[in-house]
Amino acid sequence: MLLPIVQYGHPILRKMSEDITKDYPNLDKLIADMYDTMYKAEGIGLAAPQIGKNIRVFVIDATPCEEDYPEVKDFKRVFINAHIIERSEETVKTCEGCLSLPGISEDVERPTWVRIQYVDEKFEQHDEVISGYCAIVVQHEYDHLDGKVFIDYLGALKKRLLKGKLAAISAGKVSTRFRTVLP
Ligand code: CO
Repeated sequence: MLLPIVQYGHPILRKMSEDITKDYPNLDKLIADMYDTMYKAEGIGLAAPQIGKNIRVFVIDATPCEEDYPEVKDFKRVFINAHIIERSEETVKTCEGCLSLPGISEDVERPTWVRIQYVDEKFEQHDEVISGYCAIVVQHEYDHLDGKVFIDYLGALKKRLLKGKLAAISAGKVSTRFRTVLP
């Protein structure tokens, strides 16, 4: 089932998300719906706040980017109760976009690797170091769980230049291939 995607300016994108328990209702269906929604929107990641739930769940399928970033081969994963516990000092700049901010893409500087603890869809524990483009996608989605979006990292001038575009997104004046929830 396709879910509408929450757009920039909605307060749900600014809230801190909570861990869930194994008995969270209809989790399998939620994950399947998040994948459907992400694929339809041609995204490579989608976090639960973007579909209106403040829980620490995000899905990623970065395999369409394999040509540009070979390390994303097979990088399709569900992250539940994700917590980044370590970040590299070294950083890298990558161009990012977001289904909650359609039409905007900007360079963002992030750590090159992160150590993350999470459970998968079977609630099996993982503790991994993720690097390369995978780490960029993970950090972008992870930020949604902490109420952050990628433009928060931009300088004041860049943000000012985006003001008109952001207002258009919040007003529903940007056309998208998916249904949206406006602020
Ligand atoms: Co995003």
